[in-house]
Amino acid sequence: MEYFATTSAASRRAADCVIVGIYDRGRLGTAATDIDAASGGLLKKLLKSGDVSAQLGQCKVLNGVDGVRASRVVVVGLGKHSAFDVTKFRRAFGAALKAILQTNSRQVLNGLTLEETNGAGAYYLGRFSAETVGEALYRFTSMKSGKKSKVMPLRKVGMAVGSRGDAARASRGAEHGQAIVAGVSLAKDLGNLPANVCTPSHLARTAQKIARENKNVTARVLNETEMKRLGMHSLLSVTAGTKEPAKLIVLQYKGKAGAKPIVLVGKGVTFDSGGISLKPGPRMDEMKFDMCGAASVIGTLLTAAKLKLPLNVNVVVPAVENLPSGIATKPGDIVKSMSGKTIEILNTDAEGRLILCDALTYSRRFKPDTVIDVATLTGACVIALGHYRTAVMSTSDRLQNAIVAAGVTADDRGWPMPLGEEWTAELESNFADMANIGGREGGAIIAGCFLGKFTEGLNWAHLDIAGTAYKAGKAKGATGRPVPMLTEYLLGRCGALP
Ligand code: BES
Ligand code: MN
Ligand code: ZN
Repeated sequence: MEYFATTSAASRRAADCVIVGIYDRGRLGTAATDIDAASGGLLKKLLKSGDVSAQLGQCKVLNGVDGVRASRVVVVGLGKHSAFDVTKFRRAFGAALKAILQTNSRQVLNGLTLEETNGAGAYYLGRFSAETVGEALYRFTSMKSGKKSKVMPLRKVGMAVGSRGDAARASRGAEHGQAIVAGVSLAKDLGNLPANVCTPSHLARTAQKIARENKNVTARVLNETEMKRLGMHSLLSVTAGTKEPAKLIVLQYKGKAGAKPIVLVGKGVTFDSGGISLKPGPRMDEMKFDMCGAASVIGTLLTAAKLKLPLNVNVVVPAVENLPSGIATKPGDIVKSMSGKTIEILNTDAEGRLILCDALTYSRRFKPDTVIDVATLTGACVIALGHYRTAVMSTSDRLQNAIVAAGVTADDRGWPMPLGEEWTAELESNFADMANIGGREGGAIIAGCFLGKFTEGLNWAHLDIAGTAYKAGKAKGATGRPVPMLTEYLLGRCGALP
């Protein structure tokens, strides 16, 4: 997709389509005001007659509007003016794009702006434009047989800005947005693939492909023998019941010589049946998404590499399949983690923490500046926050605040959750250094506290994405979250934001 920014009036621009927005109570956006004037008051007339609506996301395609050079005008409702923000911009623009994709438009000028939106400037207009287009165009068709869906004609997307300076900022934003789309789309693809295709080996091959195709990226994949030598018996206990070989995937992006890396650790359980502590049948298919943490950190590294960010990012992905069998790990089994600490596995379905603790210990070898792990870790997190906020836990208030703030700016939001000794105490075991579960209440925090036992001395945060990584129901599919949030954090860390 090609993006351009223009200062010319919406009515004067030759395009297949212009998008204009109307707020409630008949208030027209900047481009809508211009089109309305050029067409002799058409939009106001249509509003009065009820043919266009200000309801958020409602669209109407108008053909051959007099006084307007573009062949079509898409009028989209923006809702209440005072409530219009980045999220609503994306909803409205996304709805307009959906209508436009039904037509043969090759070139679109988006007249919707973010000007009125709490300080979000031209850079974010460009970025969210590109992210919204990426969202609207994403399709997962690789598992469908027969004719591939037709290629979409849309090639060029314009953004309306007020000045030459803003045009440059919007273009830079669109560039960043496109890199984020690449990371998000990769994360979605990996998440949506079924577990019989997206195995630990598939994740490893994907990482190696990224290393081949991107400068300054290297990949290393450790097999089970190598993990055994490192003492990763906690990780290996999860893979005991399956024939699918486990992998420890390490990706390194080098954008700044000598700098300590930011290490992103992603849970890569390619299928979580629960193991011997078998999950109930309904919706168990969703546990193919249990590698979305891995997908999101690999996606974020790809985005960082595409943007050539001046920092170092390492990704560590423990990739395993969690299945029951005659040689699977049993409740009550005790294993020694790479850190030397022993763990009593009271529930084999609390497997994410068992692979992450060894991956976190492994991360210490990079002398990291910061370590952030990302995991579909607990059902309790979904109960606590629902599907709209990623849980952000950290032993550092500063890091926690920075990640939550990055989520707000990136429109990929998180919410702080605590860690503390009270919850950690629930992990006490009669037989080992700790158990892998505590009580049911506060389960997301207890899981975070378990990981905290392996991150002493590190600048560390834990993101539980169990509620945000994928959608269930009719819109079932991976979301690519939290690639935008993590990218925003990285952009902030290397001073690449305007
Ligand atoms: N992968 C699940 C968590 C999960 C649940 C993710 C629902 C997405 C949606 C995790 O491995 C798990 O099974 N957690 C258990 C932990 C419990 C046994 C302490 C859970 O949440 O029930
Ligand atoms: Mn589980
Ligand atoms: Zn799991």
